Amino acid sequence: MNALIVVGARPNFMKAAPIIAAIHQHNQRMEHYPGSREPILYLLVHTGQHYDDLMSGTFFRDLKIPMPDVHLGVGSGSHAAQTAEVMKKFEPVLLKQKPDVVVLVGDVNSTLACALVTAKVSFDSAGSRPLIAHVEAGLRSFDRSMPEEINRILTDHVSDLLFVTEQSAVRNLRKEGARPDKIRFVGNTMIDSLLAFKDKAEQSTILEELGLRLQTWATHRDKPVTRYALLTLHRPANVDNRDVFQNILAGLEELRTECLVVFPVHPRTRERIREFGFESRLKPAARKGNGDARSSGNYRDRIILTDPLGYLDFLCLMKHATLVVTDSGGIQEETTILGTLCVTVRENTERPITVESGTNTIAGTKTETIRDAIRRQLGREMKVGAPPQYWDGQAAKRIIDTLARTHYERASSRRCLAYTPESTAMGKN
Ligand code: UD1
Repeated sequence: MNALIVVGARPNFMKAAPIIAAIHQHNQRMEHYPGSREPILYLLVHTGQHYDDLMSGTFFRDLKIPMPDVHLGVGSGSHAAQTAEVMKKFEPVLLKQKPDVVVLVGDVNSTLACALVTAKVSFDSAGSRPLIAHVEAGLRSFDRSMPEEINRILTDHVSDLLFVTEQSAVRNLRKEGARPDKIRFVGNTMIDSLLAFKDKAEQSTILEELGLRLQTWATHRDKPVTRYALLTLHRPANVDNRDVFQNILAGLEELRTECLVVFPVHPRTRERIREFGFESRLKPAARKGNGDARSSGNYRDRIILTDPLGYLDFLCLMKHATLVVTDSGGIQEETTILGTLCVTVRENTERPITVESGTNTIAGTKTETIRDAIRRQLGREMKVGAPPQYWDGQAAKRIIDTLARTHYERASSRRCLAYTPESTAMGKN
């Protein structure tokens, strides 16, 4: 079986890494799978939607992802320009490689662009095309003003295999009319990465670099960690509008009097902070590498701005944080598994399991609702429950097993069709 695996933007990398690792494992154990006597060959395509080393390269190194075989070099642009550019550049790759399956992850513009191209491609006069496998299918915020919601719906509707992370996604897909045999509840490959790299993340020196370990006589790793909150904001709906962004920052003021806030800043957000003149509100205390963040002034009103962080450093910070405040999708899931309290600065979530059985709460984007959600979370007695079903580090293996089996069945049925009694008889004549 030949597969094309597509990645494009930061949240794709940790979802695709375990799939690549599972292919390597599959090939090593091939003889144990009667359904797949051939190895899985794959090419990794990077669309280049994210291109800065801090948004892309560092994740390949941290997650040990092989260098992309094909780099489309698409870069930034409006939604239309970026999506169109990926489509234009992906089509010739698809026509040249003629894979059996295209594996797409997540909900970014690159995901949708490659889904559309694959759904319409035709390799021969019979109209044959690769299977489209969508990993993280079925999540719905029911908010169509989010570009990701459009990407999710459309990608799911043209996909052949829908690999889902939680039961709500199964229900959403069924309501939208997806055939049950397309839907496979396999778990969460992002959590596969988290579980695989959690221990390694403990070796990160980020806590020392940001001065977050208390100065005691204890040696390095045994030094207690100071109370801090970890903040990420990058959604256009939150940071592109001056008033909304300002309200969110106001909602964090009380938190800043209680503990340090560490804020790795997304490039879009950095741009808006500059444009809106919010630098003074954020009072940067220290940058990564500048040493002890508590060394001067009143650290109780301090915020530490950093560049975007690598996977292992960020995982380490999430694990040790008192609280995470975010508008990201994936971070809601990661904090649920790490048992770290999470406040989501959005009106909704497409990942309801993180609220129902995880550590997440939805805060909205108004000053008071954010402040109240933070108070509620900090006053909450943490009970770490069982992880959501199949968030067990085996999701990618289930996906690869399914792909191998589906490919084998497809190939067998094609062979059967080729040797039906009619065709044999016709051949004789
Ligand atoms: C994209 C995804 C979003 C995901 C996020 C994670 C879509 C619609 N959105 O949003 O779901 O949560 O990635 O970051 O696909 N930029 C850089 N360097 C880069 C990449 C981007 O400076 O390597 C800047 C550019 O100014 C660009 C802006 O960030 O215009 C936004 O990048 P873009 O890829 O359009 O979307 P994100 O906001 O990152």
